[in-house]
Amino acid sequence: MIKIRDLYKSYRLVKVLQGLDLDIEEGETLVILGPSGGGKSVLLKHLIGITKPDRGSVEIGGMKITDMSGPKLLRAVKEMGMLFQGAALFDSMNIAENTGFYLTQHSDPETGKWASKEEIKDRVDEALLMVGLEGTQDKMPSELSGGMRKRAGLARLIVYRPKILLYDEPTTGLDPITSMQINELIVKTQKELKATSVVVTHDITSALYVGDRLALLRNGKIDHIGDPDTFIKIQDPIIEFLKKTISQDPRSFR
Ligand SMILES: Nc1ncnc2c1ncn2[C@@H]1O[C@H](COP(=O)(O)OP(=O)(O)OP(=O)(O)O)[C@@H](O)[C@H]1O
Ligand SMILES: [Mg+2]
Repeated sequence: MIKIRDLYKSYRLVKVLQGLDLDIEEGETLVILGPSGGGKSVLLKHLIGITKPDRGSVEIGGMKITDMSGPKLLRAVKEMGMLFQGAALFDSMNIAENTGFYLTQHSDPETGKWASKEEIKDRVDEALLMVGLEGTQDKMPSELSGGMRKRAGLARLIVYRPKILLYDEPTTGLDPITSMQINELIVKTQKELKATSVVVTHDITSALYVGDRLALLRNGKIDHIGDPDTFIKIQDPIIEFLKKTISQDPRSFR
């Protein structure tokens, strides 16, 4: 369970988060929608502890990570993984090295054991297979398309089996078919890892496909939150606009 209380964050004169409260339940997929520049990426960075608030707290499994720093913070967030907006891969590493990166940097959170070279190879192969990138192990990121790079970013995330997954715009800029493959992967990963996921997106199709609950972040707070059926019926100009952009309920594709 993730508990966010009274979170405030400003950059110079820009007030980004303004007293944001949010509870994220264990095992759910929560989708966060909202206008560009509204603070969605900033919120995710607070969840994983790389940004500190001006005020307020983030609690993960009972631990207040907003009070932590250094190794203590790293230990508290070791079961979390984030797919950053733009899915930044390391340009100088091939896809296998990129995918296995965290396994070479972190020991197993439960047993404390480090993965052997053979185990890393097996888990990398498995993760790449899961995202449909088998056979790309020796390729460099520059040789892949944007959608393939996004999927490689996803493989790098799922390879160490985090319990909490944060996705920042996983489908933005992808064609509809690739987007749907990513949506399916998010649902599949969620089921296989029994994880808690937070997905930030502009893509209402993706939101309805993957989300157990949808939330609208606006004016620095969570304005509306609810299950998909409730959310889509809320009378609000942004939600009504989003609704008009889809012709068929994407859940019917599931
Ligand atoms: N490190 C930073 N330094 C200064 N300003 C920042 C920083 N990070 C974010 N901001 C500002 O905070 C605001 C919110 O940014 P954020 O990236 O969270 O928006 P977003 O909701 O993710 O938008 P988008 O949908 O376009 O990705 C913006 O005005 C941005 O310029
Ligand atoms: Mg963003």
